[in-house]
Amino acid sequence: MTYHHITLSINGEWESVDVPSQMTLLQMLRDKLARTGTKNGCMAGECGACTVLLDGEPVNSCMVLAVECDGARVVTIEGLAHDGRLDPLQQALIDTGGVQCGFCTPGVLLSARALLDRSPHPGDDEIREALVGNLCRCTGYLRIVEAVKDAAEMSLQG
Ligand code: FES
Ligand code: FES
Repeated sequence: MTYHHITLSINGEWESVDVPSQMTLLQMLRDKLARTGTKNGCMAGECGACTVLLDGEPVNSCMVLAVECDGARVVTIEGLAHDGRLDPLQQALIDTGGVQCGFCTPGVLLSARALLDRSPHPGDDEIREALVGNLCRCTGYLRIVEAVKDAAEMSLQG
């Protein structure tokens, strides 16, 4: 088995890891780096549970090879809160009751964070489009969409 030595930023901290050629970013995060907040739903690029930000863009980490991430900046759900304070999206999702089993929640939050970073005041259609790759079997999306709008308001109020 061929291993590669890669260095990448995870939630703002640079880390070096030896990874086999075929290891996915998802496997590296969960199995090598114990970042188990990133969920493994389908391993097939369909559910979005494994979504992380790769250089600011949401990706299905089960579809990205770890070795491709050499030099990249990755943000996982563990990196969303800052200085002991939840991201406004996390707080809004709690407040609206948009979390039930929670399995989709890390991926939803990271897709929504990428949306608000590029579009601070999105409409319903834009929110739904941004979350189209994140399947939720519990909430029916209404509360999730409401939470994203609430978080946008919170951010605008500063
Ligand atoms: S686990 Fe990656 S898309 Fe489902
Ligand atoms: S809260 Fe259960 S899958 Fe979304």
